[in-house]
Amino acid sequence: MSTQAFTETARALVAGSRGLLAMDESNPTCNARFAALGIPQTEDARRTYRDWIVSAPGLSEYISGAILYDETIRQRTRAGAPFARAVADAGMIPGIKVDTGAKSMAGHPGEMITEGLDGLRDRLAEYARMGARFAKWRAVITVGADIPSRGCIAANMQALARYAALCQEAGLVAVVEPEVLMDGAHTLERCSGVTEDVLRALFGQLYTQRVALEGLLLKPSMVLPGSTCPRQESVDEVADATVKCLLRAVPAAVPGIAFLSGGQAGELASARLNAMNARFKARLPWALAFSFARAIQQPALEIWKGEQAHVGAAQRALCHRARCNSAARRGEYGSAMEGA
Ligand code: 13P
Repeated sequence: MSTQAFTETARALVAGSRGLLAMDESNPTCNARFAALGIPQTEDARRTYRDWIVSAPGLSEYISGAILYDETIRQRTRAGAPFARAVADAGMIPGIKVDTGAKSMAGHPGEMITEGLDGLRDRLAEYARMGARFAKWRAVITVGADIPSRGCIAANMQALARYAALCQEAGLVAVVEPEVLMDGAHTLERCSGVTEDVLRALFGQLYTQRVALEGLLLKPSMVLPGSTCPRQESVDEVADATVKCLLRAVPAAVPGIAFLSGGQAGELASARLNAMNARFKARLPWALAFSFARAIQQPALEIWKGEQAHVGAAQRALCHRARCNSAARRGEYGSAMEGA
């Protein structure tokens, strides 16, 4: 595939006011969310869950691409379609999570390194044959008294860049996700400093590894105070700090930035994305979009609870959060949309 093809896919993923749906929880993560709601932790329950998400009426009005998990892309919907085809038939671009998870990093207590590079070239070729047009890899950066370390940032950003180069070789858009965790009591200023360090290291590695910036999307965390920090800044302060940090560190050639939600409540994530677009959109070189998992799916999951009779209501709740985030891309989201 030519460079142009994945560059066009990258642009299509952030065109207009749609965004991404991350429905790529690993089995352990998906099972933990099911267990909390008393939903059976079986392959069939996970398939049923992903099936009603993908077939939610009208979802593609707000969602441009859906990120699948390895188990899901190998499954079929109840109607008999392989999931990547079901996503495409529903009007969205199929994507795939390709990292194999974050593990404890040797010599770096409290820090994680993401695995999955071994054999990745062959796996990407297989996913591309199955219909995936973009991929995702998540690196995890923990903030603490003496961390993140230089070693943790360097190793994770090099892995992200090597993954991105392999994606582009396979004709896939690389979604690069360096997540600075919001766990902890650190301040917004500290999160901003760490995020800027991480992004500068990331774009240095992407340059070194000859990755075409036009054919990738950045999936960062917002710049936030730690979840137990006594001072919690306003929506506008978070929007200002996030945009300021991104402007310093993200090259203008990147077509789009699609935030992860990271455990923020759905309405707050929408409000913060909205503030960024309402205040800065006209002045930014890249689109500011979303690639949320929990902030779109969690309310719907809580309605579904594994019951077939609740599927319609759960699909409506899913589309509601997707619609709110799409409005936030235009700077048109407000609390009046909630409860509508
Ligand atoms: P959250 O939006 O729940 O943080 O998930 C995004 C994601 O893709 C994590 O890798």
